[in-house]
Amino acid sequence: MLKVGIVGFGFMGRMHYRVWKGMAGAEVAAVCDANPNIVADSQKAVGNIDGAAEAIDFDSFNLYGDFDAMLADGAVDAISLTLPTYLHRPFATRALAAGVHILCEKPMALSTADCDAMMAAAEDAGKVLQIGHCVRFWPEYAKTREIVAGGQYGRVLAASFRRLGSPPTWSADNWFLDEQRSGGVALDLHIHDTDYVQYLFGMPRAVCSRGSRARGGHLIHIATLYEYADDKVVVAEGGWGMAPQFGFEMSFNIVLEGATIVYDLTRDPMFKVCPVGGQSVQPAVGGGDGYIRQVEHFLKCVTGEDVPPVTTLEQSRNSVRIVEAEKLSLAKGNRIAL
Ligand SMILES: NC(=O)c1ccc[n+]([C@@H]2O[C@H](COP(=O)([O-])OP(=O)(O)OC[C@H]3O[C@@H](n4cnc5c(N)ncnc54)[C@H](O)[C@@H]3O)[C@@H](O)[C@H]2O)c1
Repeated sequence: MLKVGIVGFGFMGRMHYRVWKGMAGAEVAAVCDANPNIVADSQKAVGNIDGAAEAIDFDSFNLYGDFDAMLADGAVDAISLTLPTYLHRPFATRALAAGVHILCEKPMALSTADCDAMMAAAEDAGKVLQIGHCVRFWPEYAKTREIVAGGQYGRVLAASFRRLGSPPTWSADNWFLDEQRSGGVALDLHIHDTDYVQYLFGMPRAVCSRGSRARGGHLIHIATLYEYADDKVVVAEGGWGMAPQFGFEMSFNIVLEGATIVYDLTRDPMFKVCPVGGQSVQPAVGGGDGYIRQVEHFLKCVTGEDVPPVTTLEQSRNSVRIVEAEKLSLAKGNRIAL
């Protein structure tokens, strides 16, 4: 039985708790959070995705306020690292040095330099470090990659991706809106699509971004054109400036020579393939969400099962690198080559 710790028991920590609790072959043995009121606070509904606010059995695991004490106790074999992004590097390197496998939330870290340190620590420790790029595991996104890579509908002509919501204000000290700690909307939210663009098409040759800033100066909306060697048009837009009533949109349209693939969380049906000259079909995608599927994958990697890689550390680092280029493009008003 794999003993799992959840480090950072906010919105995503509770999402990981929900998933680990239902996972055969693993048990949540410990939770670590610096908030002394975590028991009361974790009953509150937070976040922008359903599923995190389920009943938590605090008697079933050891609760730690101090991460080093948890590591020193040897309480866990693996952790879900669900801390604010600026803490990913220091906590990941400490856990790896203690011989613990890590499923670390995205983005991997605030900078490529931090990603390099985490990759070196994983290499030295010989432990699994997987970054939670859950969109690669999201059933409709995974199926779409399969269809695109399968080639039956020919070449991609254009692809556009959107991820829009209202400002993430659920964290106690509002770290999300502090670009120094979260990387802002580009690194925190939009990176989901940057990473998926990389998953579908590989590294872009260059990026060109535009963005708008809220009162107070932080970036609130970004759109990027990803340039590839051929002429396909690839665009992704991410924003967290929507009015609260808007809800949350994640969607894409992929135009291939022989079909258009459509996904929109807010549409019904949300996923369809529309072949040129044929009837639209809703491809079967199986059960579970991206959070469940990424934990299943991590568990298989940790227990030594031979599974095809879905996400690599190099690719997670590259997603941070692309976002860094997108931010540079915003600052300079230029196309940035990669
Ligand atoms: N994959 C996704 O869909 C998704 C969605 C939202 C957030 N995230 C990512 O998950 C991570 C966490 O985001 P969140 O929304 O859960 O944030 P959050 O603010 O809700 O939770 C963070 C938790 O960490 C705790 N914490 C802070 N400092 C600590 C320390 N030094 N030691 C122990 N605990 C500490 C806080 O008390 C809080 O409970 C971020 O990297 C974020 O980008 C991913």
